[in-house]
Amino acid sequence: MKKRVLSGMRPTGKLHLGHYVGALENWIQLQNEYESFFLIADYHILTTNLDTSEAYKNTIEMAIDWLACGLNPEKSPFFRQSQIKEHTELHLIFSMLITVARLERNPSVKEQAKQLNIEEKNISYGHLGYPVLQAADILLYKGEVVPVGEDQAPHVEITREIARRFNNQYSPIFPEPMPLLTQFSRFGGLDGSAKMSKSLNNTILLSDDVETVKNKLRKAVTDPQKIKKNDPGRPEVCVIFSYHKKFNNENLNEIESGCRTGSLGCVECKLKCSNSISSFLQPIIEKRKHYENKLSEVREIILEGENKAREIARKTMLEVREAMRLG
Ligand code: TRP
Repeated sequence: MKKRVLSGMRPTGKLHLGHYVGALENWIQLQNEYESFFLIADYHILTTNLDTSEAYKNTIEMAIDWLACGLNPEKSPFFRQSQIKEHTELHLIFSMLITVARLERNPSVKEQAKQLNIEEKNISYGHLGYPVLQAADILLYKGEVVPVGEDQAPHVEITREIARRFNNQYSPIFPEPMPLLTQFSRFGGLDGSAKMSKSLNNTILLSDDVETVKNKLRKAVTDPQKIKKNDPGRPEVCVIFSYHKKFNNENLNEIESGCRTGSLGCVECKLKCSNSISSFLQPIIEKRKHYENKLSEVREIILEGENKAREIARKTMLEVREAMRLG
């Protein structure tokens, strides 16, 4: 029997390279070895953004990117959290199995509060419970392996604790899922910050065309000590070099020595880098066009994924209620 993978993403619209390198690439590999399920976490969006007017549009954009990158809905159903009511049912039960103090210790929530500029005590009840909903997402499908970035590891730990607590209190029906950490979980942004992120406006989208990639890279921050073309640079502090590492690995030695000796200027280095990124993106953009012209196909794929997911979710809830002697 294949082990089961479950992972998810919040639908924030068109995806960027950080999503690809930090998650999607890994998911696409894993779908060949595992039975896999991928969740569109549209309820989780509410924890940090109450404006839902773009939720559906963002869901479709994300699904198109998933498909364009090679997530195969035959192998890996994908579905919206909001369309499978069992997520909220299990979330309610799980919310009794963990203390407020434990949730307040969760470093991810603290970090988010800081980012959103709110005091921890002003965080919403639902936001504090973010990892409880995530535990329901994973355990509803009895996910055993959860591919996530490092920042999500504390949530998977909470999932394990909730599974253990349920199993001890009622009966052992849940696995204790293992996180599978993504190697490149922090992919740097164009402004030189450690993370590529929509809110920092430092991203390269999977849907960016050749010109856009070129323009974005042209403005990207490089080694501040390399000012003139022939100044020697330090690849290890340059985000462009990290992009070369990922998308132009076959020429890495040449780029590295060119930068260090000063024979390669940033302008040329960036051009080489945008070419590599664009040739990587080209087939994705092509596939994207196909789905953009067939939105009904995308909707159908999601609905089918939801039918498959719902069946499993229902079964698990029957087991849960039986384990709890709720009928
Ligand atoms: N919390 C994840 C994120 O912000 C998204 C997510 C929701 C998730 N439910 C999940 C990830 C279940 C893994 C498993 O990226």
